[in-house]
Amino acid sequence: MSTRALMRKLEDFEGPRLVPLGGDLYGASFFLMKLLPARFMLERATERGLLRPGGTVCESSSGTFGLALAMLAVQHGYKLILVSDWALDRHLHRRLIELGAEVTIVDRPALTGGLQQARLDRLQEYLQEASGSFWPSQYYNSDNPLSYGKVAEQFVDRLGKVDCLVGPVGSGGSMSGTSRYLRTLFPDLYAIGVDTPNSVLFGQPSGKLNLSGLGGNILPTNVDHSQFDEVHWLVPAEAFHATHDLHRKHGLFMGPTSGAAYRVAQWWSRNNPGKTVVALFPDEGHRYAETVYDEKWLEKITGWSELPKASPLAVGTPRAPMSGWSRFAWGRRSFDDVLGQAND
Ligand SMILES: Cc1ncc(COP(=O)(O)O)c(C=O)c1O
Repeated sequence: MSTRALMRKLEDFEGPRLVPLGGDLYGASFFLMKLLPARFMLERATERGLLRPGGTVCESSSGTFGLALAMLAVQHGYKLILVSDWALDRHLHRRLIELGAEVTIVDRPALTGGLQQARLDRLQEYLQEASGSFWPSQYYNSDNPLSYGKVAEQFVDRLGKVDCLVGPVGSGGSMSGTSRYLRTLFPDLYAIGVDTPNSVLFGQPSGKLNLSGLGGNILPTNVDHSQFDEVHWLVPAEAFHATHDLHRKHGLFMGPTSGAAYRVAQWWSRNNPGKTVVALFPDEGHRYAETVYDEKWLEKITGWSELPKASPLAVGTPRAPMSGWSRFAWGRRSFDDVLGQAND
């Protein structure tokens, strides 16, 4: 088998299923979205001689990217070292161990950059100890957004023109990459990123993050701010309500970042009839059975007992204090352009 064929044993799990959600709104429902960028990054590293057969892969992750790497490591015979933190739930932890990954948990945040930075610091130590190991670096490796050409192509094949793309933003790879590809065909594509308060990705002051999978306390280079027309911030309870709506109304059992994207896409679609809207749904709900899909756990979430807002509050600056669903007209500007003006 060629290197390429060898690297693509899980290829059938990479692409999304496109599900009509009423009007011209579609959900791009992934089994595990991160399988695509993970495979692409390992494949490119192999081609460049940065990763050899049986080699070691080191990465920082507390979620789906680590799982995708662990699945690929099993299929392709790599050793995997993952640096994670308390946000790693025990089921995923057990699964990673069964997949043969060596998992290290960091429990003390760095002075700046929080746990995310502490994980990266520990990772650097590993990379120095295990010389010759490969760090995919999903936050900074441009192969991450590049891998999404395949997803954009699938949307065009199935739907023709896409007018609006909505998705959660973490590393930035999926939204930045897919928007960039779609705009080569549709320059007027409207791209909406979904974030959460206290995440620095679009300028909120850094603070504790309570919605895993999106947002962050450090700013990855893979968030290409100039791709985004609009940014929305949802608090966890709002994302969780939307996740349940997606399940109850459409039978889609997805994770909370999918719910967040669904809420925003549904709102935009309602206000822009006739426009084809695609929302990215990055993972399935099984990992969240004891949290987002558990009524007892939900009762302890701030705002869970309140009726969710039907529409967002428009804010004049991304720095504004946010207690619920908010939106800002980003206008495809750079981070400095927007935050410069916000600080004026
Ligand atoms: C469940 C989930 N949703 C959304 C995202 C955000 O995707 P991206 O990293 O491409 O911005 C991630 C990233 O890890 C994720 O794990």
